[in-house]
Amino acid sequence: MAILEVNNIEKHFGSTKVLKDVSFSLEQGNALAIIGSSGSGKTTLLRCLNFLEKPDHGTIIVNGETLFDGSVPYKRNEKELRRKRLHFGMVFQSFNLFPQYTALENVMLARQMLAKEEPDFKARKKEIYQQIREDSIEALTKMGLQERMDHYPHQLSGGQQQRVAIARALVMKPDILCFDEPTSALDPELTGEVLKVIRNLAENNTTMIIVTHEMAFARDVADQVIFMDDGYVVEAGDPKEVINNPKEERTRQFLSRYTEG
Ligand SMILES: Nc1ncnc2c1ncn2[C@@H]1O[C@H](COP(=O)(O)OP(=O)(O)O)[C@@H](O)[C@H]1O
Ligand SMILES: [Mg+2]
Repeated sequence: MAILEVNNIEKHFGSTKVLKDVSFSLEQGNALAIIGSSGSGKTTLLRCLNFLEKPDHGTIIVNGETLFDGSVPYKRNEKELRRKRLHFGMVFQSFNLFPQYTALENVMLARQMLAKEEPDFKARKKEIYQQIREDSIEALTKMGLQERMDHYPHQLSGGQQQRVAIARALVMKPDILCFDEPTSALDPELTGEVLKVIRNLAENNTTMIIVTHEMAFARDVADQVIFMDDGYVVEAGDPKEVINNPKEERTRQFLSRYTEG
């Protein structure tokens, strides 16, 4: 069974239809790359998965549980939304770390907030916080940042900040980790270190969706690729097939921009 099934997602802003009919599924442990030109709807799709936007139509099913069904009347419930969001981890282009907190504090924060909602929080606070601390140190270590845990964001390079942001997403133990152009804000020499940790996650069978313009990375690391254009999935399949040998004219045109330069 697929860990994620996305069926017929549509989304408009005002009179602009941004997602026209997007469907795909993702198997546990696989990495899906989403490629496509700017404005094709990639970020909006990730935002719909994370319940930052509400789709107009379609279904989102995680582990067999229907998290969103556009045909059912929708009542916004914040606590319910927070629970649904936990299925997805989000790493954005801009790292969005809190400047007043250290790397470790940034990683621990969301888990600490969430823990407060647990019914036995008061009685078990010390034990719960200790566990969060251990998990956070483990996540930062996985990102190669064991020496940098007490640094503040301004003391870290962009690549290190992005790795903190990845650790922060990982520590929530999401079913699916989503990246939105994780290296677009980085200099080329820092891009490599971030791609390397994402590659490691993929090799360790982390279930991931990666929106990226790094075509060689998508081809080598992803198990599956989707090419989006104008709100549609134009072509999908094995990344080596799609990227080396695209079937659709629009995919070919898009990819030619990456091979000519
Ligand atoms: N909140 C919004 N309100 C209005 N238009 C939006 C909003 N978010 C995105 N759009 C529009 O939706 C289209 C797709 O945007 P986006 O999902 O960011 O594409 P991509 O990530 O592929 O570059 C763009 O034309 C963008 O201007
Ligand atoms: Mg985008």
